[in-house]
Amino acid sequence: MMVSKKMKNARVIENNSPILSCPICSSDMDLLEYAKLVCLNNHSFDLSKNGYVNLAPQASGTKYDKSLFQARKIVMASGFFDPIISRITENIKVARNGEHSALLLDAGCGEGSHLSAICTRLNNLTGVGIDLAKEGIEAAAKMHPGSIWAVADLAKCPFGSGEFDFIVNILSPANFAEFTRVLKPGGMCLKVVPESGYLQELRTIFYDGKSDQANSADPIERFGAHFEEVETTRLTYQFPLTPELLEPLIRMTPLSWGAGEKKVKEALQTNIRQVTVDLSIISGLNG
Ligand SMILES: C[S@@+](CC[C@H](N)C(=O)[O-])C[C@H]1O[C@@H](n2cnc3c(N)ncnc32)[C@H](O)[C@@H]1O
Ligand SMILES: [Zn+2]
Repeated sequence: MMVSKKMKNARVIENNSPILSCPICSSDMDLLEYAKLVCLNNHSFDLSKNGYVNLAPQASGTKYDKSLFQARKIVMASGFFDPIISRITENIKVARNGEHSALLLDAGCGEGSHLSAICTRLNNLTGVGIDLAKEGIEAAAKMHPGSIWAVADLAKCPFGSGEFDFIVNILSPANFAEFTRVLKPGGMCLKVVPESGYLQELRTIFYDGKSDQANSADPIERFGAHFEEVETTRLTYQFPLTPELLEPLIRMTPLSWGAGEKKVKEALQTNIRQVTVDLSIISGLNG
């Protein structure tokens, strides 16, 4: 029998409901009738048509909209981030030292492609993706059923303490106090940050090569203040661009927000044949 997307997602919630805590009163939550999460104080959160749950109903969301997530999905399907995702997957595999069941939180998961790719490549790994952008989570629950997908604030994670074996935080804001709280002792956090060459071909057009949005505060230093055995791997490569990929690449990045529509149009008319990917993966253990 065909299992619906909602049911696939709901079953993962059911199997892992002890990790969830109510975003309003922090008490335990239970899944009722595969339809809603209800806490001990009767705060109730319905599952959507495709089985995600909104655990931040009061939040105003983020500037990230549906078109940005559609663009990110196309760029991800092209293999643009594959070396990064492969390295993260390898790091998790080595750290796990076996295939016992483990929980992975993607904090700021967007439309869910990264989390889904990692969970598909490793056995016995359950994915939990949170993001404040409903449009991202909606797409994730629909495209990648089989994980927990929740609209939630990574600065106020709706989980108990010490629940996760791994956290990934890819090109998204971080809250290390929350990450160390929800990670198990010895759990691993992997954060991906842009380096100076990231999308430099677009930056040159958008900001005439002047502005550089990469890493204003030193993320490695901030990360190092919260985690032990910190390691950084920088991956730099040229990604070949087909003409069809140029527009989604431009639309997927917040870099274009500050540039203005005139610059965006200028970029769309260029004939860029390859683009630089320059990202670091910072990893560390929860002490
Ligand atoms: C550049 S996108 C990256 C998304 C995804 N990791 C990827 O690589 O495609 C940054 C994401 O952070 C999310 N975000 C920003 N602030 C957040 C918060 N406080 N809690 C959860 N997500 C947040 C945004 O909604 C957006 O989806
Ligand atoms: Zn509650």
